[in-house]
Amino acid sequence: MRIIRIHEYGDPDVLRVEEAPVPTPGPGEVLIAAEAVSVGFAQTQMRRNIFPAPMWRPQFPIVLGGDVIGRVAGVGAGVTDIHEGDRVGAFTLNGAYADYAVVDAATVLPVPEGLDAAQATALPSPGPIAAGTLGTAALRPGESVLVHAASGGIGHLAVQLARAAGAGLVIGTAGSADKLDFVRGLGADVVIDYSRDDWAEEVRAATGGKGVDVILDSVGGDVLRQGVGLLAPFGRLVFYGSAGGGLEIPKVSPMELIEMKFLTGFALSRWRAARPKEYLRNHEDLANRLADGTVRHAVHATLPLHEVAEAHRLIESRAQIGRIVLIPDHTA
Ligand SMILES: NC(=O)c1ccc[n+]([C@@H]2O[C@H](COP(=O)([O-])OP(=O)(O)OC[C@H]3O[C@@H](n4cnc5c(N)ncnc54)[C@H](OP(=O)(O)O)[C@@H]3O)[C@@H](O)[C@H]2O)c1
Repeated sequence: MRIIRIHEYGDPDVLRVEEAPVPTPGPGEVLIAAEAVSVGFAQTQMRRNIFPAPMWRPQFPIVLGGDVIGRVAGVGAGVTDIHEGDRVGAFTLNGAYADYAVVDAATVLPVPEGLDAAQATALPSPGPIAAGTLGTAALRPGESVLVHAASGGIGHLAVQLARAAGAGLVIGTAGSADKLDFVRGLGADVVIDYSRDDWAEEVRAATGGKGVDVILDSVGGDVLRQGVGLLAPFGRLVFYGSAGGGLEIPKVSPMELIEMKFLTGFALSRWRAARPKEYLRNHEDLANRLADGTVRHAVHATLPLHEVAEAHRLIESRAQIGRIVLIPDHTA
């Protein structure tokens, strides 16, 4: 099978296309013959070794992770509820960039037969992250929500799910005019270019000066710092990515939170382990919404697996609207 390994950190060229035997699933594991594999922003940070989260401690050669959609091609000992031929999906921190992936059976989700594989890559991680961050913020109907990087793979789902949850005001930020048009088309009430110096003032004005109830922040750095200042009393900011800040995580003093502001974080792997039923519920809800068209999963490009370096370049140039998906070579 084809597999993409990295043997050193660096530019997209470090992603090497290699051959390897199809792996055998161990106890509690499932082998998936991939139909589609997602590429997210986090994997570009991992490739550069600027990924800030503590749960990713890989060893070379590294095979990066992602959302894998496909059919079960084998199960390890002790796996009784998943069978060869089942159509499934899973998000894995390692081992996704290949024709076949071995994943933990506990993370495997059913994928409807009729759903296009690239579309289905929304199900294992982006949808649950969008829903899980809104759930962590305990969004109530009528409240205002600010979604940063709102045209991105996760952000564009969060905008739609916030709307569907009854948010009173949805504000989306993005870094270019075409991205802002896209976010408006998703149902955001207000769109703001946060590359402008006065973006935070625009957000405050959009809330009538009151501040925002919920902020979903995947950018970090100065955007997070200013976000704390934008929270309304009892407002909640959920930090879940550091696209703009890299390894620099801003420090926030408790005194900044004294006006009843809540600052928390979200990590899918931790949340999935702690709240497996909620993860499954969010998965089922999003699968239904994709099927009935009430949520749209935008796929910016599908590329063959061996063009993975191009996928990373696209993401690093901030060109993508929605997601980039790889199609494994064995499906060609
Ligand atoms: N907590 C978790 O469990 C978890 C899991 C997976 C991913 N994540 C995080 O979720 C976020 C979104 O992931 P995604 O795959 O959907 O990515 P994405 O939103 O499609 O891409 C990242 C976006 O961040 C924005 N951005 C802001 N400042 C940037 C900078 N200095 N350099 C590059 N981009 C910048 C860009 O949008 P604009 O051009 O509009 O600014 C870019 O398109 C990422 O931060 C990722 O690390 C978190």
